[in-house]
Amino acid sequence: MVELSKSFELEIETLDNDHKELVTMANEISALLDQGNSGDCKDRLAQFIRFAKAHFSREERLLLKVGYPNVEKHHRHHKELDLKMEHMLEFAESAGLNEQARESLKKELVFFIMDDVITTDLDFKDFVKSKKTE
Ligand SMILES: [Fe+2]
Ligand SMILES: [Fe+2]
Repeated sequence: MVELSKSFELEIETLDNDHKELVTMANEISALLDQGNSGDCKDRLAQFIRFAKAHFSREERLLLKVGYPNVEKHHRHHKELDLKMEHMLEFAESAGLNEQARESLKKELVFFIMDDVITTDLDFKDFVKSKKTE
């Protein structure tokens, strides 16, 4: 179970809400894995991926709007995550088969959401904040 502490907030409402939704979805997927419900888990993961991709687009639009200088780099980072999510989905295909695959997927999901998605966004927090108060 992942929880989003204050230190991970960007203080950008739309993006923080998206991150919270992603955390909620990731927790739901973990719970489904615990129940051994791999069918629903795959559906939910596909939904998670769609939402994450939409979030990345929203985020990039905002970064472009405020003139964030490293937007291209962050875009490339998101593209790598798209690929990672596709791999997770493939992994979920076999998650029904064994406990180890389910545990790996759960760990991967926590790492993905906390390190890949949320922590890397902290890079632009101060820049966006400075633009808002200008
Ligand atoms: Fe984000
Ligand atoms: Fe991001």
